[in-house]
Amino acid sequence: MTQQVAGFYGSEKVNRYYNVVKGGSTEETGGIDARVLECLLGELPMSLEGLQALDLGCGDGRWSEVLHKRGAGKVIALDRSVEMLARASRRKKEHRLDRLLLLRGDMQELPLQDASVHIVLASFCLMYFPDLNPTIGEIARVLAPDGSLFVATNLVEVDPPALTHQLKGKVVPINARLNEKKIIELDNVIQPRSLYFDVFRIAGLSIRSFVQFEPEGLTVAVRCPWRSNLRLF
Ligand SMILES: C[S@@+](CC[C@H](N)C(=O)[O-])C[C@H]1O[C@@H](n2cnc3c(N)ncnc32)[C@H](O)[C@@H]1O
Repeated sequence: MTQQVAGFYGSEKVNRYYNVVKGGSTEETGGIDARVLECLLGELPMSLEGLQALDLGCGDGRWSEVLHKRGAGKVIALDRSVEMLARASRRKKEHRLDRLLLLRGDMQELPLQDASVHIVLASFCLMYFPDLNPTIGEIARVLAPDGSLFVATNLVEVDPPALTHQLKGKVVPINARLNEKKIIELDNVIQPRSLYFDVFRIAGLSIRSFVQFEPEGLTVAVRCPWRSNLRLF
C-alpha cells in the first residue's frame, strides 16, 4: 500500500503520465481513458455561451480548452501541481485561450465564491481522496443552483463488496499501460460506486446520468495484498 499523499504530480510523474496514460496525446480524448472521455465530450452542452466554467484538477488544460471553445464566458482551471499548470499555461498561449484563468490550489478548499460557477468538470481527479466529502461539498458550494457537475473517474471496488467497505479510503497502486508503453503507477483510493452516490446526496447533488465502462490498460500492482479481488471500472 502506498503511504504518500495520493495524486501528487511532480515533473517526472507528469511526463510519464502524458507519455503512458495519454500516449503523448494533447487532445481531450487520447489515451487509455479515451472511451470515457468521448462519452464526457458528448454529455457536455455544445454551447456554454456566457457561463462560468471550472475545470478541477485541470492537468495540461485539455478540458479547459474544450470549455473555452464551447463558448464559456470564463474558464477557471485549477490544479495544485506547478508542473501541470506550466503545461496548461503553454496551451493557453498556443491556442489563445484569453478567457482562461489558471489557478494554483487545492480542490478541497476552492478559492471561489458561493454559487459562482455554472459548470464544474472533474476529469480523473477525484480518485485521490480518502474522504470525498470536503471536495464534493466545495463543488456543491460554488455551483449555481441550476449548475451541473461532470465527473470522469476510476471506481475502485473489491469483491466481495463487504471488503470494499472495509478497505474504503485505502490507497491502491494501479499500473497503467497503453499499448507497449512503459508502465506508470497510479495511486488511487478505494472508492466504491455507492460512496460517490452517498457523497453526492449528502452534498445535495442529484444524479442525472451515470455510465460505467470496463477497464482497459489498467491492472492492480503486484504488491497490493487484495490484488486478486480488485475490480476497476
Ligand atoms: C490524472 S490527472 C488528470 C488531468 C486532467 N483533468 C485530464 O483529465 O487530463 C489528475 C490531476 O489532478 C490534480 N490534483 C490531484 N489532487 C488535487 C487537489 N487536491 N487539488 C487540485 N488538483 C489536484 C493533479 O495535480 C493532476 O493534474
